[in-house]
Amino acid sequence: MATSIKKLPLDKILFSQGFGTRRHCNNLVLADLVKVNDVLIEDPQELFSPIDLKLTIDGLDWEFHEKAYIVFNKPTGYECSHKTKHHPSVYGLLPAPFVERGVQCVGRLDQDTTGLLLISDDGQFIHKMTSPKKNIGKVYQITTSEQLKSAQIEHLLTGVVLDDDPSPCNAVACEQISDFQINMTIVEGRYHQVKRMIAAVGNHVAQLHRFQIGEYTLPNDLPEGEWRWLNTEELLQLSSNPS
Ligand code: URA
Repeated sequence: MATSIKKLPLDKILFSQGFGTRRHCNNLVLADLVKVNDVLIEDPQELFSPIDLKLTIDGLDWEFHEKAYIVFNKPTGYECSHKTKHHPSVYGLLPAPFVERGVQCVGRLDQDTTGLLLISDDGQFIHKMTSPKKNIGKVYQITTSEQLKSAQIEHLLTGVVLDDDPSPCNAVACEQISDFQINMTIVEGRYHQVKRMIAAVGNHVAQLHRFQIGEYTLPNDLPEGEWRWLNTEELLQLSSNPS
């Protein structure tokens, strides 16, 4: 995550941020569509130190970030995929440069799951956050359709076997909130894992919301469908284990 301090030509900076090919970025500057720190720049080769650079591209304000690490509050009805099957893509809710620079979801949520979704173009970061070996807890608020029994919660903690995988998986923590609600922490990210674990103990997920990863909690002031950049402190919180 180290940020380079080398000066770079403006068209290269724009290219690195996802504003199209180098030629397209060159043309954006020549068309007087690019400001740097509120000053119109006419030369695509003018050099800038990218640190703390504020770009404005065709009216869109854009902070320079060498790598993209963003938090998104996922609404229901969106798929976490670039090629969706039945619902629109979460990527359609982000500014186009993110898609151009190849961002991916850090662990997908189902279309009907809401809440904390991280999105990045840093492959190492994505691997670290999703690898079960790194033991990073993901905390889900689960609303069930049947009243929760203590035996079911015990079973989730001791481990359940899912239909397509003989190795058991378990919750690392379960906190009962009400008769129909628990907060459950898992460190793996198997396909539909939470829904299948709840089904395996004889209950059913009515609503699913992820609100925490590591020690990082979905910000209260981030409305559904909105995103923002993560800062260094938040990135550190993400790699800590809450359990
Ligand atoms: N587990 C699920 O079943 N669904 C999700 O969206 C996330 C985890």
